Amino acid sequence: MKGTFPIERFVQLRTPFYYYDTTLLRETLDTINREASRYTNFCVHYAVKANANPKILGIIRQSGLGADCVSGGEIRAALKAGFPAEKVVYAGVGKSDWEIELGLENDIFCFNVESVPELEVINELAAARNKIARVAFRINPNVGAHTHANITTGLAENKFGIAMEDMDRVIGMANSLQHVKFVGLHFHIGSQILDMSDFVALCNRINELQEHLVQRHIIVEHINVGGGLGIDYQHPNRQAIPNFAEYFAIYHKHLKLYPGQTLHFELGRAVVGQCGSLITRVLYVKQGAHKQFAIVDAGMTDLIRPALYQAYHKIENISSEAQSETYDVVGPICESSDVFGKAIDLNRCQRGDLIAMRSAGAYGEIMASGYNCRELPVGYLSDELI
Ligand code: LLP
Repeated sequence: MKGTFPIERFVQLRTPFYYYDTTLLRETLDTINREASRYTNFCVHYAVKANANPKILGIIRQSGLGADCVSGGEIRAALKAGFPAEKVVYAGVGKSDWEIELGLENDIFCFNVESVPELEVINELAAARNKIARVAFRINPNVGAHTHANITTGLAENKFGIAMEDMDRVIGMANSLQHVKFVGLHFHIGSQILDMSDFVALCNRINELQEHLVQRHIIVEHINVGGGLGIDYQHPNRQAIPNFAEYFAIYHKHLKLYPGQTLHFELGRAVVGQCGSLITRVLYVKQGAHKQFAIVDAGMTDLIRPALYQAYHKIENISSEAQSETYDVVGPICESSDVFGKAIDLNRCQRGDLIAMRSAGAYGEIMASGYNCRELPVGYLSDELI
């Protein structure tokens, strides 16, 4: 089954562009809020890195979610979209001084700290402003996730977080510093996770760490379990809204929270992934020696996931119902990796046909580049095209 698109409006627009179905986005947000609010102490943040289009951020902010940022630029984008600073968390393995200062100036909810030298710099910069920075430690739980090697983050070999063995020393240090307040523990094991047992493994590891801390009379204000819930790239229409009920229930069932503790989530892909498609036009159909190519006007500069992670995006010819033929769907960039899909069955393509690359709402538009001096793709909301 293909997606439904306002093709009559599309034909007037310059391609390539991103198209966001705001009805689906709003339904997804409503589902998140409904399912999370079953548990009084759950707080959901949106991982801005997945898509920072200001119009999308505006809709997400209206729904009441907080913002998870990984750079000063993302903090600015979130504040500009109206996210309250007290709902902004800031993570990142290499925070620059100006980025830390921006967080301090705005009194953000929390810095997720990834190393001792970073903790010292935050303390110094906070002292210079006579402030106390709220900090959580990102702990590397050494829990693997069944996902692509480039997007697993919670293994000891990854650059992220503080090793579990160093946790006590770092907490001791934070408690001795005057201008930081240690308030939480942060974790994130990877992205596009569909095997729920990975989240159970994370819960078990957090329980062990918390038991250890409780013996030392330390109960933090909050636990942040990051994001990572995956989406169905193969069948974008089958369950367009991910199973948030199951996801939150897993944490409720397996994670032991202590009185007064809140549980924070940082979801990106599961929020915006399915509402976005990259729309492109067929420029040429070229017969090769052994196969045929559909050459489209979008390239890896517009959607880099297939080239970078060998990621699959469902491709549909939304202009045609003609008999299917098999194509390699490729872009115009001077790189052999500029391929969206090989041996893809599409309704027979002609020059000018519109092609949709589905499930591109997350890590699509935001990862676009200007390589080959190409223009960045525009993003349109379905509301704007009525
Ligand atoms: N929290 C932290 C600390 C993260 O590093 C990430 C994603 C998230 C939350 C949000 O994860 P999500 O819910 O979206 O899985 N560009 C890659 C994905 C990189 C994810 C990086 N971190 C892709 O296109 O698949």
